[in-house]
Amino acid sequence: MMRVRSKPEKRFLVTGATGFIGSHLAGALSEEGHSVCLLIRTLPTQSTTSDDRWNRIADWLRLSPAARARITVFAGDLDAPDLNLSADDARFLKANTEEIVHAAASTSFSERKRTEIFQTNIIGLGNLLSFMDGASCSRIHAISTAYVGGNPVAPCMEVFSPPHGCLNPYEESKHQAEILLREFCSRKGVRLFIYRPSIVYGNSRTGKTFRFNALYHPVRSIAYLRDLFMKDLLENSGNQARKMGISLDPTDHTLHMPIHFRKRQGTGVNLVPIEYCTDSILELMNAPGTDRIFHITNTKSTPLTDLVSFTGRLLKISGMVAEGVSAQQNPTSSALDHLFQRYMEPYQPYIEDTRVFDDSRAAQTLLPAGIHCPGFSYSIFEQCMTYAMKSNWGRTLGL
Ligand SMILES: NC(=O)c1ccc[n+]([C@@H]2O[C@H](COP(=O)([O-])OP(=O)(O)OC[C@H]3O[C@@H](n4cnc5c(N)ncnc54)[C@H](OP(=O)(O)O)[C@@H]3O)[C@@H](O)[C@H]2O)c1
Repeated sequence: MMRVRSKPEKRFLVTGATGFIGSHLAGALSEEGHSVCLLIRTLPTQSTTSDDRWNRIADWLRLSPAARARITVFAGDLDAPDLNLSADDARFLKANTEEIVHAAASTSFSERKRTEIFQTNIIGLGNLLSFMDGASCSRIHAISTAYVGGNPVAPCMEVFSPPHGCLNPYEESKHQAEILLREFCSRKGVRLFIYRPSIVYGNSRTGKTFRFNALYHPVRSIAYLRDLFMKDLLENSGNQARKMGISLDPTDHTLHMPIHFRKRQGTGVNLVPIEYCTDSILELMNAPGTDRIFHITNTKSTPLTDLVSFTGRLLKISGMVAEGVSAQQNPTSSALDHLFQRYMEPYQPYIEDTRVFDDSRAAQTLLPAGIHCPGFSYSIFEQCMTYAMKSNWGRTLGL
């Protein structure tokens, strides 16, 4: 949605602009007429500069020349106490930043990456806040997550709450980040806005994305297994496939691949498209009121059974089922199930998710503005996965 700016131009500093959500926010803010500074690191493994990294993303976003002209890239790294900025850049940013949009984070769920996750999400955030201490910034917009409250039975509300058993170090770190932000902002008189998206996928109208985690990961894993076993059946003896109970229907080339997904009663995956996430955050940035925690979630989670059936239909695979189990049972029985579970491990809790999100505060601003989250249909799924496969899961995007 192209928004018409009703507020005077502001000067933003955006972190995480090479990431999925940060890039869309930076692009949308500059299209709205704001001046946008980006903090982008130069990766040690790549020779590309921070400017080059952003320019590729700006091309991919198809930003207008006017919007591009309003953006300035600063080479910097949250890991360093002074953000690794040159003295001139530091002075400029401290004097010219009115509002910060903090979208940089480590988004890994892995226990093995706990140190790295906390380094970016807590120490990196602390570095940013110390850097901005005493500067001109009056508002911080922080991208948190709907899963920040852990795994409660009651609906998750748009409030600060103690976590009820975080599922991984990512959720833990995001919860601690909210505490850090809240303490800093109340001490310094800075207005804090917290946005909590659930699982963000590509554009629901075009399928465009450049992140292929979360929703994409299981589909990609299944497509990989399909290709592997198709090759075995068509080009080799087919013994590996047969051992796994996999066969090919000779008439319509449907692959029978019996995979059992664990599913608990009432579970679903809460999915929001990137344009809803971006439009919502931009609208909520000016929401009235003093309570400023907003859920960017879908009122209707997508049942796992739908996602399994969408995947089977798209990839021409039969035999995949989502089976209801109690939490104690372990239904994975076949070798194929075990193989698939290995791919799925980090995402399993989100597939079996029973969390429900109350977004009534966000809705008070979004519904009158005509911003609605679309239901997740087969046509959206097909659009997104077709884009993913055409771009070879991002490999051909050159980002
Ligand atoms: N995507 C979702 O479904 C989702 C859902 C809920 C909440 N969120 C939250 O939304 C925010 C953005 O997520 P995303 O999906 O856009 O993540 P992403 O695509 O993985 O991007 C992460 C961004 O953080 C930057 N970053 C990481 N460490 C940094 C450092 N030390 N210094 C400077 N920049 C650093 C990355 O820069 P490099 O490119 O240099 O690595 C990248 O730009 C995060 O806070 C995340 O927790 C995301």
